[in-house]
Amino acid sequence: MAKDVIIACDFAGRQQTLSFLDAFEGHRKPFLKIGMELFYAEGPDIVREIRRRGHPIFLDLKLHDIPNTVRKAMKVLSGLDVDMCNVHAAGTRKMMEAALEGLTKGSAQGTGGGSTGARPLLIAVTQLTSTSEERMQRELLIGAGINETIVQYARNAREAGLDGVVCSPLEAAMVKEACGPQFLTVTPGIRFADASQDDQVRITTPARAREIGSDYIVVGRPVTAAPDPVAAYERCLQEFLNP
Ligand code: C5P
Repeated sequence: MAKDVIIACDFAGRQQTLSFLDAFEGHRKPFLKIGMELFYAEGPDIVREIRRRGHPIFLDLKLHDIPNTVRKAMKVLSGLDVDMCNVHAAGTRKMMEAALEGLTKGSAQGTGGGSTGARPLLIAVTQLTSTSEERMQRELLIGAGINETIVQYARNAREAGLDGVVCSPLEAAMVKEACGPQFLTVTPGIRFADASQDDQVRITTPARAREIGSDYIVVGRPVTAAPDPVAAYERCLQEFLNP
C-alpha cells in the first residue's frame, strides 16, 4: 500500500501557494492538500494549475449534503483529475454511496480520475479532531463515546465502498482493527518531536504515526512555516517512510 506525506497548502491565494511550490523545483513533487480556503479563493483553476505542475492532489472539500447533490458535485470534481477527495461520514451511508457513484461515473467518462487513471480515492471525515467527546454528546446528542462513534462512522464508510477515513493518528490503530488493514487512514495532527504543537491537541510524530497505522500523514505548518520548507518536508518523508 502506498504511504506518503501530504503537505496541507493552507494559503490564502494563488501567489503565495505558487511561490511556496517554486521552492520544490528540482525536488520530488510533494502530494498536496488543497482545502476550502484556497479552493474558495481561487476556484478550480488553482487545482488545474497545481496538477499541471505534476503534484498529486488531495482536494479536501468535505462534502456534506443530500445524496443527489453530493453525487452531482462529485461528478463535477471528478473532472479535476485529483487523486483523493472527501465527504463527511455524518452525511450517512446513502450519501457516501452517492458520492462514490458520482465520482466513479464522472471518471468513467474519461474526464479525470487521478494521476493513475483510476477514480480518485474517496475518504470520509469521521468526527473532526476539533470536536470533543463532551461537545459531541451535549450539543449533538450523540450518546456513544467518541471512539465508538469514530469506529462506527469508519465502518459505515467502508460499507459504502469508500477507501478510508481522515482521523487523528492516535485513532488509526482502532480504525484498522475495525475495518481491516487495507482501509486507508489519512491523519493530520503531526508534529516533529522537537517542535511546537500550535493549536493542535492530539498530535504525534511522523514515525509514531507510521507505527500506529497511518497511510498518509497530512502536515501543514511544520513544513509551510519552516525556515526551510524543503528540508522540513524531506525530514517528514525520512521519518515517516524510512524510520
Ligand atoms: O498546520 P497543521 O499541520 O496543523 O495542518 C493540518 C491540516 O489538516 C490543516 O489543513 C487542517 O485543517 C487539517 N485537518 C486537521 N484535523 C482534522 C482534519 C483536517 O488538522 N481533523
